[in-house]
Amino acid sequence: MKGVILAGGLGSRLHPLTKITNKHLLPIYDRPMIYYPIEALINAGIDDILIVTGGNNAGDFLRLLENGNGFGLKHMNYTYQKGEGGIAEALSLAEYFAGGDKICVVLGDNIIEKNIIKEVAAYKKQKSGARIILKEVPDPQRFGVPVFDGESIIKIEEKPVTPKSQYAVTGIYMYDNDVFKIAKTLKPSDRGELEITDVNNRYIEEGKMSWGILEGWWSDAGTFESLLKVGNLVIKTGANNIQQ
Ligand code: DAU
Repeated sequence: MKGVILAGGLGSRLHPLTKITNKHLLPIYDRPMIYYPIEALINAGIDDILIVTGGNNAGDFLRLLENGNGFGLKHMNYTYQKGEGGIAEALSLAEYFAGGDKICVVLGDNIIEKNIIKEVAAYKKQKSGARIILKEVPDPQRFGVPVFDGESIIKIEEKPVTPKSQYAVTGIYMYDNDVFKIAKTLKPSDRGELEITDVNNRYIEEGKMSWGILEGWWSDAGTFESLLKVGNLVIKTGANNIQQ
């Protein structure tokens, strides 16, 4: 399985911090944000990694990460998203890199306390389809929210005003190669983006989506509050801890 980290977009919720740099290069405690998703993938045994980024500061990723030697990697792959057409658009740029393999996608602003080893192992056993990872949160209206019928997820609602469960769909997704076919059929949402939630709903409609619950804390870092909160969580417990 290959890894894809999505680190494009404008980071406009973090202006003026992101006026002169990319959100994923901002610090979270002692490391740039992008280090955390890289470590999360490596901890799960995924070492063939593509970073999708964009904007004026894309070159800084290369200066910072070079060929990934600092993480024990032999090579790091990069590609460029022109504009900020959404998460599913950024993901579709990974088609050539995936080359038919399954992929584990991590949003560049998602940070975890522990690891995704169990989730990746569960997905590897799955012949085809996709897998999402959920986490109970106090503010589900900020995220993609699953709607349950018993143990089954019947759909995901993106940032619902009235969430139908207390879970967020975290920005860690596992897909087979169909994801690229699905991405090509999407239409932009009201916010003008190709939504990852639309991709996930397609898998759900086809009965090809499994799910798990993440252990340990999870946070995005795309708002001032979450950026501050996650820095404090990292100081307290560390991040990307291998032991469960
Ligand atoms: O954090 C998890 C949430 O991420 C999910 O629960 C939501 O379902 C999902 O839509 C997403 O929500 P956000 O609105 O918080 O996503 P945001 O626009 O902040 O983008 C998250 C990351 O995706 C960002 O750090 C970089 C990447 N991205 C985003 C866009 C819009 C790209 O690479 N390219 C893009 O064009």
